[in-house]
Amino acid sequence: MDKILVIGACGQLGTELTLKLRELFGTENVIASDLREAADLIKDGPFESLDVMNKEALDALIAKHQITQIYHLAAILSAKGEQNPKFAWDLNMTSLLNVLEAGKNGVSKIYWPSSIAVFGPGTPKTKTPQNTVMDPNTVYGISKLAGERWCEWYHQKHGVDVRSIRYPGLIGYKAQPGGGTTDYAVDIFWKAILEGNYDCFLKEDSLLPMMYMDDAVKATIDIMQADAQQVKVRSSYNVSAISFSPAMIYDEIVKRYPDFKINYAPDFRQQIADSWPNSIDDTEARSDWQWKPDFDLKKMVDTMLDNLESILVTAK
Ligand code: NAD
Ligand code: SER
Repeated sequence: MDKILVIGACGQLGTELTLKLRELFGTENVIASDLREAADLIKDGPFESLDVMNKEALDALIAKHQITQIYHLAAILSAKGEQNPKFAWDLNMTSLLNVLEAGKNGVSKIYWPSSIAVFGPGTPKTKTPQNTVMDPNTVYGISKLAGERWCEWYHQKHGVDVRSIRYPGLIGYKAQPGGGTTDYAVDIFWKAILEGNYDCFLKEDSLLPMMYMDDAVKATIDIMQADAQQVKVRSSYNVSAISFSPAMIYDEIVKRYPDFKINYAPDFRQQIADSWPNSIDDTEARSDWQWKPDFDLKKMVDTMLDNLESILVTAK
């Protein structure tokens, strides 16, 4: 039986991924860890405080629980990264190298996410291919591109079984996003239900690749469950689900909240959004390990509103 360590388990993705991993592999076999306190949703299983920058502490935790798989999710995302570039670079790189070293020293499988932020202004914007110009202009994007190269290097030179996906913007209702450029696509739901208006920090026509959290969790578990020979890309796979702009998601929400108003007030995040693709070509993921999303824009909006309405009404 595998013993799984999730690092950064209290974040937007980690909360939902940890719950799913526990459902599939048994609560006692999935150790959640984070710098912050255990999130409410993952308090029912094993939790360890961990600063992944501390290699000795990481190695001790791996030995204590006889960890065989690591999902390493801790990172500083794009918007926060621009506000503290040196810190973002240090965290995103050193933490990954600590985890890849653990792979070299015996952990049998590692998952580490990359991002559409590896692309930049020179990248073809529509149906961005797996292999193309990559000129990221955020510290976050630079760290993800460097991380991809490190993953491939550890795989080729040391046989580390590391697997990775370039997520688009992730949308879920169980945990708040942690400082990215695509966070507006989560915030907008809370504001529609609670306040009836939203100040959007991106322009109405900023088309970006996005994905509902259930699809992201499914893709993550699918690539980790695939046979090693199926995983032909050892940097990181393009995956695609939905592309929409603030105006498009607003149009869908307003069908259910006819009085909902949106105001566009682009800030520094607009420049980041402008440097990213509109849509992604994920042919390799579809053919190598049979990736296919389940959520389109309408299904995602309905699911977000149904769940948030019941959470927020229960909380009242
Ligand atoms: P998040 O900011 O919500 O969560 C990150 C978690 O890592 C937080 O709980 C934080 O406390 C923890 N953490 C930070 N520093 C730590 C440290 N030193 N030691 C241990 N834990 C630490 O991020 P997220 O949105 O859940 O993203 C998870 C991963 O997915 C990241 O690698 C991110 O780059 C990637 N990703 C996310 C998105 C998205 O839209 N959310 C898109 C593309 C890629
Ligand atoms: N959603 C992430 C961000 O906006 C992309 O990696 O930073």
